[in-house]
Amino acid sequence: MESYDNVVKPWCSCILLSLLLLFVSSPSCSADPETHYHEFVVQATPVKRLCKTHNTITVNGQFPGPTLEVRNGDTLVIRVINRARYNVTIHWHGVRQLRTAWADGPEYVTQCPIQPGGSYTYRFTIQDQEGTLWWHAHSSWLRATVYGALIIYPRLGSSYPFTKPKRETPVLLGEWWDDNPIDVIRRATRTGAAPNVSDAYTINGQPGDLYNCSSQDTVIIPVDSGETNLLRVINAALNQELFLAIGNHQLTVVAADASYKKPFTTSVLMLGPGQTTDVLITANQPPGRYYIAARAYQSAQGAAFDNTTTTAILEYKSAPCPKKGLTLQPVFPSLPAYNDTTTATAFAAKFRSPSKVDIPTDIDENLFFTVGLGLFNCPPGFSQSRCQGPNGTRFTASMNNVSLVLPSSFSILQAYQQGVPGVYTTDFPPVPPVQFDYTGNVSRALWQPISGTKLYKLKYGSKVQLVLQDTSIVTAENHPIHIHGYDFYIIAEGFGNFNPQTDTAKFNLVDPPMRNTVAVPVNGWAVIRFVADNPGVWLMHCHLDVHITWGLAMAFLVENGEGELQSLQSPPADLPPC
Ligand code: C2O
Repeated sequence: MESYDNVVKPWCSCILLSLLLLFVSSPSCSADPETHYHEFVVQATPVKRLCKTHNTITVNGQFPGPTLEVRNGDTLVIRVINRARYNVTIHWHGVRQLRTAWADGPEYVTQCPIQPGGSYTYRFTIQDQEGTLWWHAHSSWLRATVYGALIIYPRLGSSYPFTKPKRETPVLLGEWWDDNPIDVIRRATRTGAAPNVSDAYTINGQPGDLYNCSSQDTVIIPVDSGETNLLRVINAALNQELFLAIGNHQLTVVAADASYKKPFTTSVLMLGPGQTTDVLITANQPPGRYYIAARAYQSAQGAAFDNTTTTAILEYKSAPCPKKGLTLQPVFPSLPAYNDTTTATAFAAKFRSPSKVDIPTDIDENLFFTVGLGLFNCPPGFSQSRCQGPNGTRFTASMNNVSLVLPSSFSILQAYQQGVPGVYTTDFPPVPPVQFDYTGNVSRALWQPISGTKLYKLKYGSKVQLVLQDTSIVTAENHPIHIHGYDFYIIAEGFGNFNPQTDTAKFNLVDPPMRNTVAVPVNGWAVIRFVADNPGVWLMHCHLDVHITWGLAMAFLVENGEGELQSLQSPPADLPPC
């Protein structure tokens, strides 16, 4: 597979180094962290899918982009060169970026975008994270095609908390438009309507057997009978939560969002965009071919969605050769119905930390944010063509009734660090400005949010509890909410309106799962906790890109603590100008 060609395997360089050193000095491979240097050239590349070639924006001409492989404790230095005709930034999704917010990537939040012809070098260290993360563009809808896996192995000398698998395979779920994704979102932004849904989902960049002109390129994942493979599943789709299952095989979940989990078995996974799930699969079935299939989990009623199914094939190397002229039809898994919220909920409820964890108590900040859609009434003088949302409106979305507008001449982090006034305010409301029956029949008067660049300020070290409450405005929906720069514990989830009197009884303060993206239940809520120990400006948003475009986002401004080790580093000299 061309996409994984320039993978840098840390153990290879280590063996090589040992061999070299054998002749020089010490024969032992040091357990010191390494620094990995990469160059990412963002460029238009012809990519043919669904019978048609597009000038797709890629990294280094690869789709999906290069897989980065590092160890816990290693440093990455990645020079991004923009040879495309769009502004671009790269985000290292899930990397804590302790004190290095400048390398986080969301455009106009931590940096101005890299303009065509420009470059910027991201430098950051992986600190106490192991498992699967990924990287993606964080500018307009470029991440539709600009994304790749970021795999973090244990430090040298330490190992997985499970039997080492024979093989490991990244499984990147993506979403493909038979169109230029940037044009798709630009059209929607102009008209105020919902953007077109995708034409295919993909596994490692390929739609698979069930689509036109695709079967000859279906991804094959080989296995040997009896062996165990670690699949690192990443939902890189732009706008869709996805179910995934494999014909006749059970999956054992061992990690998610680069932290280990108490293992559990399941026949189906559900991942929101942004989430990763590491699963062990043992080849214990009759030698043959089995479909790996993914399709939508669609919680929003009445909304258009891509209802196609992407497939790859798990192929036993000892599978009998098909007789001439016949193909050996792979075994298809059973997938939940598109709207199977029961299965999505049961799956989420299985996640636990491997053992008792240190949950923040004595909460300093008790926050309650609504998350949901909205509609802007069309301003007078606006042409009809720009009001193509429901009943002549424009689609929008908000948290606590504020629809985020990004600045355009500064990044928020630069404005903060340089004391530039007028770029943002710090009056994001800690609770909804108006209380209402969030999941009930909401009065039309409450459907229109305000626009603003409002941040919520957190003191260094403050212990935060945040209730994320879905609303039924326009339509209720499961929203994958992601926080930059942080992992958090999900201590409870439920349906309806969160009730602070009774729902605290559901809090798991023993072994709740740690994640960087929580799929907030449709018409429900999730409660998360974290300690604000990373200074900087950190975006929190719905990872359905159509919702970020509509403003379903806010940012935390976390102040410096005491001394250098609790303070944001100074900005790199090559930080792009606006
Ligand atoms: Cu993976 Cu702000 O996102």
